[in-house]
Amino acid sequence: MTEIRYAIIGSGMMGQEHIRNIGLINGARVTAVCDPDDGMRNQAAVLAGHGCKAFTTYGELMAAGLCDALVIAAPNHLHHQVLLDVLPADLPILVEKPLCTTLPDCEEILAMAAQRAAPVWVAMEYRYMPPVERLLQATSLGETGPVRMISIREHRFPFLKKVGDWNRFNEKTGGTMVEKCCHFFDLMRLIAKAEPIRVYASGAADVNFRDEHHDGRTPDILDNGFVIVDFDNGVRGMLELCMFAEGSQWQEAISVIGDSAKAEALVPGPARFSPDGAERASEFVLSPRTSKVEQRETIEVDHTILAAGDHHGSTFFQHQKFFAMVRDGGVPEVTLEDGLKSVRIGLAAEHSARTGEVVVL
Ligand SMILES: NC(=O)c1ccc[n+]([C@@H]2O[C@H](COP(=O)([O-])OP(=O)(O)OC[C@H]3O[C@@H](n4cnc5c(N)ncnc54)[C@H](O)[C@@H]3O)[C@@H](O)[C@H]2O)c1
Repeated sequence: MTEIRYAIIGSGMMGQEHIRNIGLINGARVTAVCDPDDGMRNQAAVLAGHGCKAFTTYGELMAAGLCDALVIAAPNHLHHQVLLDVLPADLPILVEKPLCTTLPDCEEILAMAAQRAAPVWVAMEYRYMPPVERLLQATSLGETGPVRMISIREHRFPFLKKVGDWNRFNEKTGGTMVEKCCHFFDLMRLIAKAEPIRVYASGAADVNFRDEHHDGRTPDILDNGFVIVDFDNGVRGMLELCMFAEGSQWQEAISVIGDSAKAEALVPGPARFSPDGAERASEFVLSPRTSKVEQRETIEVDHTILAAGDHHGSTFFQHQKFFAMVRDGGVPEVTLEDGLKSVRIGLAAEHSARTGEVVVL
């Protein structure tokens, strides 16, 4: 295959980030986009450039046969139906997280995908952020010693405005713990090298969108909370989420503590939300117990790659690997099973936060 042709299903904010990043890969080209929203569809077609065809529906896009791989970046509640409709085409797929918003929907997709040959990769960009990759390397090379505690703090801006306001309600997002925190539960599983057994959470919708009304309803998505996840090998994970804290220097602070050292990845928020609109560097910090001297590394990321998205370069690095899989063969690094498991923890956290119950998995 000389050139890999991509089609984008759902050409909003994330679909356009995918287009910009695919545009940075030699041998990759976006040949088709679809979106029912005229504004998003037109922006995406212009961004993809000459020769890209734009469709209103993914049915028309699929019928046109213009692509070798699909990227699904439609709203969360549509992933299930879109996947049911496009899986039979047997093309490689990169589907945005969360895989689906309910467990039965995720399970149905896994069963259907098992019947076909082409791979499905669940987009978990946080795995591919350079400071997080450095952290993963530190834990796997034993720089921390055996991992005991994983703490992920996300202090960020509120959910952005979306077409049709789909991200304001649990029924369409799966809930905040599924919608955005599935990334962090995925990271915890990856670092702990274990599966969760118990989830306890406290959270609420306290600050954001309290004065918004959509068809007479106020948004019900959580905007802050704590989640504790116990793993089957004794590792403890904790998530601290606050979505009205965009004044923070670090959007994510991810720390892993082992018997011999603490390792930490510090990730700034997107440049477009920084005080002067400029990119900020990320850092990795290793704090060994023996020396008690912090080893601080600035993680440099190419500015063209940073500028192609809001996720500190991760969308590009994930696409590089997805592209290599499509071109050379191989299996997804983030599987449908990973996608399902991250949704399962997110749903448990939502349930625990709303009921006060401990969820045993
Ligand atoms: N991995 C990440 O870091 C990350 C970041 C942001 C968003 N996302 C995910 O990407 C997906 C899209 O999020 P977004 O922020 O771009 O939302 P968005 O609302 O900006 O974009 C979604 C687009 O899908 C379009 N759409 C609606 N129905 C459609 C249909 N039937 N077929 C095709 N397109 C349709 C909408 O008109 C909209 O333009 C979500 O699943 C979200 O969770 C992932």
